[in-house]
Amino acid sequence: MKTAVLGFGTVGAGIYEMLSQAKGLEQGPVLVRPGKDDAPFKKTSIEAVLSEPGVEAVAEAMGGIEPAFSYAMAAIKAGKHFVTSNKALVAAHGIELSAAAREMGVGFLFSAACGGGVPFLHNLSIAVESDDIVSLGGILNGTTNYMLDAMQRRALSYGEALKDAQKLGYAEADPSADVSGLDALRKIVLGSAVAYGILPTEGLYNEGIEHFTDEDVKRIQARGLTCRLVAKCAAVPGGKVYAYVEPVLLKASAAECSVLDNYNLARYEGKCSGPMVFIGQGAGRWPTASAVLRDLDCLLKGRLYMLASDCREGSADNEACRHSYYVRLPGSFTGCFEVKSYSESDGVAELITKPMSVKSMHELATRLRAEGADIFFAELEG
Ligand SMILES: NC(=O)c1ccc[n+]([C@@H]2O[C@H](COP(=O)([O-])OP(=O)(O)OC[C@H]3O[C@@H](n4cnc5c(N)ncnc54)[C@H](OP(=O)(O)O)[C@@H]3O)[C@@H](O)[C@H]2O)c1
Repeated sequence: MKTAVLGFGTVGAGIYEMLSQAKGLEQGPVLVRPGKDDAPFKKTSIEAVLSEPGVEAVAEAMGGIEPAFSYAMAAIKAGKHFVTSNKALVAAHGIELSAAAREMGVGFLFSAACGGGVPFLHNLSIAVESDDIVSLGGILNGTTNYMLDAMQRRALSYGEALKDAQKLGYAEADPSADVSGLDALRKIVLGSAVAYGILPTEGLYNEGIEHFTDEDVKRIQARGLTCRLVAKCAAVPGGKVYAYVEPVLLKASAAECSVLDNYNLARYEGKCSGPMVFIGQGAGRWPTASAVLRDLDCLLKGRLYMLASDCREGSADNEACRHSYYVRLPGSFTGCFEVKSYSESDGVAELITKPMSVKSMHELATRLRAEGADIFFAELEG
């Protein structure tokens, strides 16, 4: 199957190279920007790419929403299968792309968009065919896992951990989507669409790691706990899901604590299968390109879709999910919490809340921060 590649960066160049060695696949043209067409296989317009004889599939690795969406629609309407590693594109337009692909009888797969090389969405999309998914989630952002691990195992400050991650190419110059939890949120939204046929676009919450300090590391280590940034999602009554990202404090025996450096851990629990856990490289040229190649191989074998035909947009209900939180904040701001335990030293309070909803905790933190409080909060698991 001759496959065109859109974008010749980290992932696109990896896909192009892997196509030359893959059974049943063949290198097609590559879309680059004008001025970068320094080889015969490089083209500078989507029309030139799609009109190349024999192209049956298009693999998008440009990133962003436009022109990726227009090019995706053009490819699908020209009767080409479409695969992508672009989570922003699928989170924004996955349902339209899936419907258009079904109408044209071509495939639409995106397993590289969540978990990079970790075969999470691929396996989840197979599992839903024969099992009910109880819950899904995990460590879906390698950059923040690298930083949290560096802060807790190597005692680096937040700033040092971020610089290190940037030096190693894990974090972008602008790391805000990673450290705010937004990147992981976009990925869990795709997991929800695959597992439950609901792509939530509203009612979502993401708390990242920006408020986690080296002093917090000492405090939670004194409690024998480890912090990881975790995405969670499950179906709730009323045809909705909960879906959110927040720091979680875990006991050493939790699988997440053994996930070091920039690795990802993605998990789902099937009603019949029980828990399934996948650990691997969530990003990088070869792991990500290998996931795209797996999707292309699925197309060859007739597996064309990851989204059900009735998949729809919806809103998340994060009021439905409740647990206790660990909260560190100025002693003068503790009055709005119902607490299980409380301690205060030098004006800094640490408290464990009674179970409260994800929505209430995230909204309370936003309000107290607007009033000037410096707060770190994390879910207490178990
Ligand atoms: N890198 C990873 O490890 C990883 C992992 C999982 C998923 N992804 C996803 O994969 C996608 C690509 O990521 P990447 O890391 O490969 O990014 P990248 O290295 O920046 O590559 C993107 C390439 O696409 C080109 N491009 C962008 N817009 C274009 C246009 N309109 N026409 C032609 N070429 C265009 C860029 O060219 P210019 O340089 O000229 O702008 C660049 O060469 C993103 O959606 C990302 O979220 C990446």
